[in-house]
Amino acid sequence: MPPKPLIAGNWKMNGLTADVREIGTLAQALKDGAGCDVAVFPPLTLAAAAREKAGGLLWIGAQDCHTKESGAHTGDISAAMLADMGLQGVIVGHSERRQDHGERDSDVRLKALAAHRAGLCAIICVGETRAEREAGQAEAVVLGQLAASVPESAVPGNTVIAYEPVWAIGTGLTPTQDDIAAMHGTLRRALTDRFGPAAADMRLLYGGSVKPANAAEILPITDVDGALVGGASLRAEDFLGIIRAYD
Ligand code: G3P
Repeated sequence: MPPKPLIAGNWKMNGLTADVREIGTLAQALKDGAGCDVAVFPPLTLAAAAREKAGGLLWIGAQDCHTKESGAHTGDISAAMLADMGLQGVIVGHSERRQDHGERDSDVRLKALAAHRAGLCAIICVGETRAEREAGQAEAVVLGQLAASVPESAVPGNTVIAYEPVWAIGTGLTPTQDDIAAMHGTLRRALTDRFGPAAADMRLLYGGSVKPANAAEILPITDVDGALVGGASLRAEDFLGIIRAYD
């Protein structure tokens, strides 16, 4: 049986105090259950308030963590601190962190390890650029990122893989259904080679311009166990339009 799907919202650097009401609206709508797990990753400034509003009906996580547990790292936050706040997960290796902060696969792996040590679920992101896809290197790039970013401590309960083609993020463009199916199949095979049958239970999310209008086409694709949603997760109404694709 495929794993229970997860719809995760990454608010990125968006949201002020008043926007936490969107989490309250989501929680209210999720009271009677949903066909998937739901998570929101707001900016850390809103995480405590979001957690309170979520009332346990959805998970709240963070968008990054440091590789170390504590120490002289001004401005950074450790996975242990996130767990101490009651957060359940952390996104690591998002392409915007890779681009804006020069994060390499080896950093992402250490961050995922730190998340696991703290008892958090790591949402590990991989994905090719447009130039890499056009050069026919998409699969090789993504497999390389997967191998080097996912630590040995990964098990289905503490790790989610998000395939986010960089060129599809925030652009309104999405790969074809066949391309998504092919990449997710490739990821599943690579995880099975490495982790054995447990890989069948590891959730593989697709991310990149997922919206209520295309959720019904993307989410049923084989080996797609949910979505990592950016822009369309900021308003509860849009996000629920994606979540409801599992009803
Ligand atoms: O992490 C989610 C993301 O990068 C996708 O963003 O706005 O294309 O849904 P968006």
